[in-house]
Amino acid sequence: MKIETLRWMNNKLEMIDQRVLPASFQYLAYDSAASVAEGIRSMVVRGAPAIGVAAAYGVALEALRLQGASLVDFHSGMEAGFTVLERSRPTAVNLFWALQRMHTVWSMVKGQKNEAVAQRLLEEAHEILAEDIRINRAMGAFGAELLPDGARVLTHCNAGALATAGWGTALGVFRSAVEAGKKISVIADETRPFLQGARLTAWEMVQENIPVTLITDNMAGFMMSRGEIDAVVVGTDRVASNGDVANKIGTYMVAVLARRHNIPFYVACPLSTIDMSIVGGADIPIEERSADEVKGFRDYHWAAEGVSIRNPSFDVTPAELVTALITERGVVRQPNRDKLRALFG
Ligand code: MRU
Repeated sequence: MKIETLRWMNNKLEMIDQRVLPASFQYLAYDSAASVAEGIRSMVVRGAPAIGVAAAYGVALEALRLQGASLVDFHSGMEAGFTVLERSRPTAVNLFWALQRMHTVWSMVKGQKNEAVAQRLLEEAHEILAEDIRINRAMGAFGAELLPDGARVLTHCNAGALATAGWGTALGVFRSAVEAGKKISVIADETRPFLQGARLTAWEMVQENIPVTLITDNMAGFMMSRGEIDAVVVGTDRVASNGDVANKIGTYMVAVLARRHNIPFYVACPLSTIDMSIVGGADIPIEERSADEVKGFRDYHWAAEGVSIRNPSFDVTPAELVTALITERGVVRQPNRDKLRALFG
């Protein structure tokens, strides 16, 4: 089954509602920058590359929506659209990368008729989507070579087709390994509190007939100590210029455990996720989400009323714990500033 996380239908962006998967599979339709921003904020769409693609379509939708307006209103409306999208979520740098790319295209065609500008922006959004799938395929091929036949691989959160335009980053590595004839099996961390592992990674792997075993986050150390995990592959929301990796909360814990047990810790990472403007992981903005996500799930709350709650959504794994970054330009072992600079050549 081909998972189309985002698709262009009847002049609207449609996105799978990831809040209700796997219990229900449904698309929601979007027709403006503000509505796409709300879809990103509320996690209808999530995962760094998918957020970037959604934001690019948000810009194109805003241009289509405003194309009948005067030039002045079109310009001010477009700037407001960029701003509302920029404010949707703070950690995944792909959002800002995609908006920057759309802004550059917009600056190049600004003098043309509104309709032509809107069409050009839509073309660019389509290209960002198509490019994302090509990049995931390239990363998948490099990453698959790192996994031995029969490997039991742990992953955290969901860095799959649902987190991208298709194929996936970490799960793309698994898909490519299977395509190359390797027998691999996946251990999926549940990923509290939003349950991306239990709901999304497990669902993707089951659809694909890739053997998958679900564990709660606190079981990873036990599994490693028993020799039941051969490698870890995760995705990332932002890599700093020194190689520090921000990813879903709990990733740091997995990386520390992997080092303790001499298990390779790989991060699948398109170049659009590397932020060369940031010196180290401490400078990466970490989103704090609602306490409701920790209190319980959806409407059911199990935590004691009145307890204070923290909900940082991401953590930072220092570069020294990263065995290698898997990028579309190849594998970067023991990443550091010089190696990342060289990647951008
Ligand atoms: O809060 P989310 O679900 O958007 O967080 C997603 C992750 O942390 C993913 O691991 C990351 O974006 C990489 S997706 C290819």
